This record gives sequence, C-alpha cells and structure tokens, in this order.
Amino acid sequence: MNKKIIDFIKKKNKSKIISLTAYSKNIASIIDKHCDLILVGDSLGSVLYNFSSTKKVTLDMIIEHSKSVRQGVKKSLMVVDMPHNTYRNPKEALTNAKKIISKTKCDAVKLEGGKKIIKVIKILIKNKIPVMGHLGVLPQSATNFRFKGKKTSERKIILRDSKLLEEAGVFSMVLECVESSLAKEITKSINVPTIGIGASVNCDGQVLVTDDLIGLSNIKVRFVKKYLNIEKQINNAVLKYKQDVTEKKFPAKKHSY
Ligand code: KIV
Repeated sequence: MNKKIIDFIKKKNKSKIISLTAYSKNIASIIDKHCDLILVGDSLGSVLYNFSSTKKVTLDMIIEHSKSVRQGVKKSLMVVDMPHNTYRNPKEALTNAKKIISKTKCDAVKLEGGKKIIKVIKILIKNKIPVMGHLGVLPQSATNFRFKGKKTSERKIILRDSKLLEEAGVFSMVLECVESSLAKEITKSINVPTIGIGASVNCDGQVLVTDDLIGLSNIKVRFVKKYLNIEKQINNAVLKYKQDVTEKKFPAKKHSY
C-alpha cells in the first residue's frame, strides 16, 4: 500500500474525512485544498448528461473527466468510479482498472458491491490497484433508491459485505443510504474508514456531490444539504452582462484593442 493510502486510513478515529465529487479541473482545484478525497463519480451521468441512471456512463467518459480533474487535484486522494459493465469478471476489471489508472493517474478506483464482486476486488488489489468499496444503495444496479438496513436480513448482508470488503483489502468504503445504527455498527467493526452519503454522522467521513452542495443541480433528497445557491448567482451575473452589452458598457475601452 502506498503512503498516501496509508495516511488516509490513519485518519480513522482521528478526524472526520472530507470528500466531494469533481468532474472537471475548475471545481477540483477549488475543492482540493479542503478535501481529503476527491471522487470522479459516475453520478456525472445524471448530473452533467441528464442520463436516467449511471448505467450509461462509459469508460471513455469517466476517463476524459478524470483527466481534467487530475489537473486540479494536488493534495487530495483522487478516486475514480469504475462504470457499470466495466468489471463483470476479474479479467475485464483488471484491464479496465489498469486503463483508468494509466490514463488518468488517479490514486484508486471505486466499485459498487459486496460478496458478488469480491473476486474482482481481490485481483485488482493483488495487482497493486487500491480499491474503494461501495455498499448500501448501489446506483449501478439499484431498482429503487430506498435506504438500506430496515430489515434484519438486509442488515446482516451489508454488515457481512463490509467485512468481506475489508478482508479483501479495500482501503475505505462508501456507505450510501444506510440506516444510522447500521452505519455505526459497520464503522465500529472495521478498521478502514467508512465514508457516508445518506448514512448519518456515524461514518468516519462524508461525501457529497459538489453540484448538489453548491445548488447547481435541482436534486431534492433527504441526504443533500445545499450550502450555496450558485444558480441564483450565475443568473445575476448573466443579467448584468446582458444589461452591459445592451447598454454598450461592455466591452469598454480597456477590454478592446
Ligand atoms: O457517483 C458518485 O458520485 C458516488 C457518490 C455519490 C458516492 O458514487
């Protein structure tokens, strides 16, 4: 395991881990100084391309966005989502993970799932590719987005999967829409950091989609908190620009040659 990953794991039980998504250099360079981990999430499919699910995100799309993000990330750990249907078996996963790492120079990849993908995770780790897990609601295969952990049977499976992922060697895992006490139990019972989204304050860290945080998306789900209304600010700026152009105030002499 490389030093960056080891230092990341050491944050468990010390300080809350701050994570956000980025899909481009401009956002990545702003958030990098405040984050421990920046994720190029396949949520970019719904957020940027208006896809009905993350399933349509391709390897090439995630690689191109990650190349842009890489230019803005200087200190955070950069993790890239492996898109749907790019890790259906160990061979396919290894080929595609190697491609992601070599083309984007990211630090790690993230895969959704538990027991079903353990063989895949093991082969990546055996080949020195750091892996982040993802349990709870799994958008690449979900049929609904209801939180997980209400039923005892469901709780047992997620808890078992968290241990399997840890044993397989993941350095961290996202818990998406996981009931609070289950997130607490998982976080206490494993030695790698849990990063929650809709999984309560009981995780070691938190991740949010940056576009949701700044108010650039119109998502209305319980686990999102909007910290800024950037849409309003863009509107105001564009209105001023429109007025200046209409009134011939822009471009002024100093903007002209
Ligand atoms: O794709 C994504 O942005 C994610 C986060 C929501 C964890 O997987």
